[in-house]
Amino acid sequence: MAGGIGSRFWPYSRHNRPKQFLDILGTGRTLLQMTYDRFVKISDPTKFYVVTNKKYEHLVEEQLPEVPKSQILTEPMGRNTAACIAYASYSIVQKSADAKVIVTPADHLILQEENFYKSIGIAMQASEEGNRLITLGIRPNRPETGYGYIQYISNHGNPVKKVKTFTEKPNAKLAKAFLDSGDFVWNSGMFVWKVKSIVAAFEKYMPDLAEVFEEGFEHYSSHTEEDFIKKAYSLVKNISIDYGIMEKSDEVFVVLGEFGWSDLGSWQSLHEIQEKDADNNVVEANAILYETTNSYIKVSPGKLVVVEGLDNYLVHESDNVIVVCKLDGERKFRDFVGEARKKG
Ligand code: GDD
Ligand code: MG
Repeated sequence: MAGGIGSRFWPYSRHNRPKQFLDILGTGRTLLQMTYDRFVKISDPTKFYVVTNKKYEHLVEEQLPEVPKSQILTEPMGRNTAACIAYASYSIVQKSADAKVIVTPADHLILQEENFYKSIGIAMQASEEGNRLITLGIRPNRPETGYGYIQYISNHGNPVKKVKTFTEKPNAKLAKAFLDSGDFVWNSGMFVWKVKSIVAAFEKYMPDLAEVFEEGFEHYSSHTEEDFIKKAYSLVKNISIDYGIMEKSDEVFVVLGEFGWSDLGSWQSLHEIQEKDADNNVVEANAILYETTNSYIKVSPGKLVVVEGLDNYLVHESDNVIVVCKLDGERKFRDFVGEARKKG
């Protein structure tokens, strides 16, 4: 899944180049390429599908030349992850009805790859039974409201647990209650299932969406796919897989994983994992700092930034935009971006 617009990293991440296409960590590889590198160790690029917006097609082709062009699926507009996953699933089920699928965001960091592969292996095996939908769960360490929370039925040592409740993006009060109870894990947003299982779930929980794609693919040929997809996307609801299916299905299982996962969803999460100076600042700039602590300073090369007296702030310049705001005030970022766009 590589079609999100990453508005919380604005202005570094822009509409024409969202964060998955950026070398955010300075490793020489973009987040999309790092995702590719992670999966190429356990699978083959000829089996990869990338779903992205039409306007990012050239970026995917450039950054992942190994992925067959026919498997870069492009969307005419963002309709969130339910449509994105449906598009890929209905494409895959035509070709290999017995396929197993790993669904992954293109913008996560995983530090302990061996542990990650172990969890994937367990999830792959667990997905064989019935129509199970498996998600990888992460032990939470803060009352983050941007994630899904999973409560599972405890079954002692077995790493595959039946999910009791799935709550996508709870409010702050609920998130805190979930965290304090110790009964919940975060949804990592990575899923494993048989393609048939997710198709069955679309039929059951999102029948309108299923009908659009089933009908389209019945009359499908590679010439008409673009037209059909354009039409399909204008018809389907803008909803994530989490709200559309994971919250509703009674066939969800979670595999608990510990693999140094970070969603890299915000400046703050990036601050957590980046190297810091003695005052806990991340400095990606030619900068002079006085009495500045716990902050993230990033300006473009060739510029000098002088900062005095800030604690827990983001100071960021990119192109013609400067943002100075509380590092943990990122929930307002979507609003900033909307307002800023109006100003041009
Ligand atoms: N192709 C395509 N089209 N991809 C999309 C679209 C779309 O319309 N919308 C989002 N994506 C991609 C994003 O680029 C990202 O890689 C992935 O799908 C997940 O979307 P996000 O928008 O980042 O979701 P989220 O972070 O708010 O929530 C999800 O991830 C959390 C963990 O990071 C949920 O699954 C939560 O439950 C989960 O906790
Ligand atoms: Mg995300």
